[in-house]
Amino acid sequence: MTCDILIFGGEGDLALRKLYPALYHLDLAGCLDESLKIYGVARNGGDQETFVPRVRDWFERTVSNSKIDEDVWTRFTARLTTIGADATSSESLGKMASEYLADESRDLIVYLSTPPTIFSPICQALKAVGLVRPNTRIVVEKPLGDNLESFREINEKLTSIFEEYQVYRIDHYLGKETVQNLLAMRFANALFEPLWNNNYIDNVQITVAETVGAEGRWDFYDGAGAMRDMVQNHLLQLLCLAAMEPPSNLSADAVRDEKLKVLRCLHPMDNAEIKANTVRGQYGSGAVDGKPVVGYCEESGAAPTSNTETFVAIKASIDNWRWAGVPFYLRTGKRLPKRYSEIVIQFKDVPHSIFGNVGTGSSNDLIIRLQPDEGIRLHVMNKVPGLDVSMPLQEVTLNLSFSQAFESRRVPEAYERLLFDVIRNNPTLFVRSDEVEQAWRWVDQIRAGWERNNMRPEFYTAGSQGPSQSIGLVAREGRSWHEFR
Ligand code: BG6
Repeated sequence: MTCDILIFGGEGDLALRKLYPALYHLDLAGCLDESLKIYGVARNGGDQETFVPRVRDWFERTVSNSKIDEDVWTRFTARLTTIGADATSSESLGKMASEYLADESRDLIVYLSTPPTIFSPICQALKAVGLVRPNTRIVVEKPLGDNLESFREINEKLTSIFEEYQVYRIDHYLGKETVQNLLAMRFANALFEPLWNNNYIDNVQITVAETVGAEGRWDFYDGAGAMRDMVQNHLLQLLCLAAMEPPSNLSADAVRDEKLKVLRCLHPMDNAEIKANTVRGQYGSGAVDGKPVVGYCEESGAAPTSNTETFVAIKASIDNWRWAGVPFYLRTGKRLPKRYSEIVIQFKDVPHSIFGNVGTGSSNDLIIRLQPDEGIRLHVMNKVPGLDVSMPLQEVTLNLSFSQAFESRRVPEAYERLLFDVIRNNPTLFVRSDEVEQAWRWVDQIRAGWERNNMRPEFYTAGSQGPSQSIGLVAREGRSWHEFR
């Protein structure tokens, strides 16, 4: 795979924190062609002497277990070039193109790690200087708009220059190892599929909990909120993978067609349903990890009041035969007590218990843990060993921890997998525009309902499990959230 990677926003946060470390790890794993070059483009870039140490410094600060192999690092940094250029100017890009990117036989990957407001002028400039070729791929990531209309505007601009097959829309959750393993678990084992429906599953819970607040990016976050920042993309993608029908193969369109069908089946909610089935929250001051933290509107750079939610809980329904009557509870929030992401499949109780009330009351759960400590756990009821005539039962856990099962293997970071897929031209784990549109459609109607119903976020103490209404959302149906253990 002879290719070049051009990163616009090449000295920005995402590039330094995620992209260069991911590319280094790909180099370490022997996944990069000898001739592959990486160009970091930034308006104030161009100074190689300061750029390379900066990349190293960020690597050491942000990558856990960041032991660097010096030989690989030397090879990797020889691939890296910083370029000072105005990405929106064809004159500036023209110079760069003729100096570094003149060989048209090499694939070109253009990563737009910039605000979407400049996607269009960058693409125009790329076209003007002849860098939009059949072997060019363009990588973009959220926020792709803040509603259906603005997404369409951004997308139309991209697709007026690039064909759909050239556009790689990243949702980094799809690059997480456990998320891909969900496909393997569901479709490479005969065990689960017969049970994977409303006959056996009582409810599904998807939680993405964070301990961080909106600190450092308050302005951006306040314009988005948890619904647009997390639900529209990450949580709905997880829901799709958990709920979709088996695709006929792993090709990009086969998988994406099935995800799209799920999004189309998401039940649109009317006003009353939005009131009953959604909860918005905003964190006040409190303590996380034993340290006091300020409330959302006391963060630095914050406005004194805000109507933006930092927590959302939703009871979603999927209107199809497989899932009719099975609630999908979605929950995400900042400043919660623990950082973890998981999908919990809660099976129904046995139809009749022969054990009386002793030790029952707990059904089987399948827990797919995305982070931390990736793995799969199955809770099953077991007899407590002993001579007791009443056969007391206790829930035990069958635990498949990735780090134990695959001890000698490092779990790659999401961006490693995704960048490697762009390099090898495999869009299966990227989001097609019709999926993004459909996700916006569902999210937009809920947000419009919040507006109509004048639903302001409920306060919750930082370090708590979110507003009490979130507990009520599942408790009123005799259920409870699966909390981290
Ligand atoms: C990003 C959101 O997409 O995902 C952030 O914009 C959030 O607000 C982040 O913190 C969470 O990602 P991860 O991989 O740390 O769970």
